[in-house]
Amino acid sequence: MQDALVAAAIAARENAHATFSKFKVGAAVQDVTGRIHTGCNVENATYGLTVCAERVAIFKAISEGARKFTRVAVVADTDNLTPPCGACRQILWEFCGDVEIVLSNLQGKTETMKLGTLFPRAFDASFL
Ligand code: THU
Repeated sequence: MQDALVAAAIAARENAHATFSKFKVGAAVQDVTGRIHTGCNVENATYGLTVCAERVAIFKAISEGARKFTRVAVVADTDNLTPPCGACRQILWEFCGDVEIVLSNLQGKTETMKLGTLFPRAFDASFL
């Protein structure tokens, strides 16, 4: 049976606004109440203003009042499973800490890891 979080990320990916790269990404974040918040990448003609699926999902969740998270799923159509970019790792660390990250593609290939392994020795509020 498919993980509901991955299924949500696959569905969100369909809404990707990837006009320039054609590279569609979907993300889903689960909060401690079990609620799932989704996002897709939203590109911009200036390129630099593009926002990744992971940041859209976590910012949507924060704006809905969610504050504690358990898992994040990221889906793209790549055989080599697509991980969050560096900027997204920083943002996810800030709001989610060392949560499980599930990477998946459309063929059902899946790999799960902790954010801390993708983003060791992070700078965060504990330094301030
Ligand atoms: N992208 C994401 O949305 N998440 C990732 O984890 C990697 C990259 C998007 C940004 C851009 O719209 C496109 O993929 C190509 O970089």
